[in-house]
Amino acid sequence: MQEVPVENNPGLEYIVIGRVLAIPQLPAKLAKNDLFRHLLIAGSTGSGKSHTASKISERVAREFKIPVIVFDWHGEYADLLREYIEVNPHSSPIPIFTDDPDDLILVSSIMELTPPQEYLLDKILRRVDFSKTKSIESLLDYIESYPEESNWMRETKLALHRRLSSLARENYHSLFEIRGRIEFKQGVLEAGKPVVLNLAEINDPSIRKLYASFYLKRLVDFTVNQGRRLLVILEEAVNYISRSQPVKPICETLREFRKFGVGLVIISQSLTQLVEDASVNTNTKIIHSVKSKQDLEVVEKTLYLDQELLETLPYIEPGEAVYSTPSLKKPVLIKIE
Ligand SMILES: Nc1ncnc2c1ncn2[C@@H]1O[C@H](COP(=O)(O)OP(=O)(O)OP(=O)(O)O)[C@@H](O)[C@H]1O
Ligand SMILES: [Mg+2]
Repeated sequence: MQEVPVENNPGLEYIVIGRVLAIPQLPAKLAKNDLFRHLLIAGSTGSGKSHTASKISERVAREFKIPVIVFDWHGEYADLLREYIEVNPHSSPIPIFTDDPDDLILVSSIMELTPPQEYLLDKILRRVDFSKTKSIESLLDYIESYPEESNWMRETKLALHRRLSSLARENYHSLFEIRGRIEFKQGVLEAGKPVVLNLAEINDPSIRKLYASFYLKRLVDFTVNQGRRLLVILEEAVNYISRSQPVKPICETLREFRKFGVGLVIISQSLTQLVEDASVNTNTKIIHSVKSKQDLEVVEKTLYLDQELLETLPYIEPGEAVYSTPSLKKPVLIKIE
């Protein structure tokens, strides 16, 4: 099977992601428009999810000339992609206390602040002089010196200080700013190669989650404001949109992304762990081998799989998947290549 070279086909409306495992072995196509109605890639560990996402990233960037950014949770895409541009979080500090009311909600939900801690932080942020308080360290100092009006406040203040001080720990202070704007360099987003945000540079999982969530939010806002298009590859999506600990502002944008020309590829080992919106709001699904009974039930219900296909799902090879997309009448078994 040959891919159509872009130069000869400027109006290309789809990429080929593999071949259908039936006779004849037709190419498995992914339409450009369907990128913006979101994709879900699921399957047990080692079933081929990241490999599939890397192929989609490369082809979308190269053939559609749409910017692609991989939120590379484990730092594995350097080995998966032939060409890419790496972004190191330590060289791209993110402002986390701007005027946007979602900022406080994001910090509070990821740092697991209690309602009194969130209330106090909100109060402090309304009072602080941002022309003097420019770093996380100086915000921490301000919190420490904040006048205590009661006993409960002292307790809350100390606890809040303790929570937020992890943001200034080790070398994490290079990750966050108070205010300001992050520069998403235009060239990077137009390079025809996927951009890889190497999140594995951040050791602590909750700091990694905070950084990634803010980066995602800022990047989507930037893209929308500029009226551009973007494909976001979200590895280990369970960190952002899990049923048990959803990051609220990210879950909310999930429903709105499609209006704005931002496509999302959600990657997860488990379907049952994700918020329901992840299934409902993804029109294309690539389901690699699934072994868990609960996940198989979800697959059966969301894709209306026939019994035969469902029964083979635990046993298919890495790289093989059930593929469901609007341009196909019904789900088919494919091999990603
Ligand atoms: N389409 C494919 N063709 C050939 N080999 C593949 C294909 N997809 C995956 N593999 C092989 O299977 C292995 C696992 O793939 P991959 O890392 O993509 O799995 P994963 O689902 O992302 O696993 P994890 O959940 O642990 O992240 C890799 O060694 C890869 O080379
Ligand atoms: Mg993987």
